[in-house]
Amino acid sequence: MALAKILKPKGVDVIDCSSGGMRGSPVVSAGPVTYGYQVPYAERLRKDADIMSMAVGLIVHADQAEQILQEGRADLIALARELLYNPNWPMDAAQKLGVDKQFGSVPPPQAYWLAKRAQSVKSVVPSTYMKGMNVG
Ligand SMILES: Cc1cc2nc3c(=O)[nH]c(=O)nc-3n(C[C@H](O)[C@H](O)[C@H](O)COP(=O)(O)O)c2cc1C
Repeated sequence: MALAKILKPKGVDVIDCSSGGMRGSPVVSAGPVTYGYQVPYAERLRKDADIMSMAVGLIVHADQAEQILQEGRADLIALARELLYNPNWPMDAAQKLGVDKQFGSVPPPQAYWLAKRAQSVKSVVPSTYMKGMNVG
């Protein structure tokens, strides 16, 4: 918090609030590691130090990420391990949130085929169809 207050006037725009995900991290050993377990750091920093913050820590689902932003708990979302699992996460999230019907976030040849499939094959859902945190 103290450092953030010093950095802002020096031109730092945003702080990535990872408390460390490596083995032996005090945060990881202190409490349950569950969805969004490090988001409270981003939330507190942006409120108390008046600086933009980026949230990390088991942010996995599109609706989860969107909710963090809509609730004003962080200004940006960062994904680490979920992107190792699913490098197409941004495209997939845009579909689940319904904000990119024509696949405009991917290169045109990829967009062409995916939009064509989405329009013509209604009964087939992508392998990443699970929509969010509350789906079993
Ligand atoms: C490839 C990779 C490298 C990372 N390197 C570090 C690191 O050097 N130091 C650290 O404290 N955390 C490191 N982390 C942990 C992240 O900062 C982050 O806190 C953690 O992965 C939680 O976000 P996630 O659930 O989206 O993966 C790393 C994570 C990944 C996937």
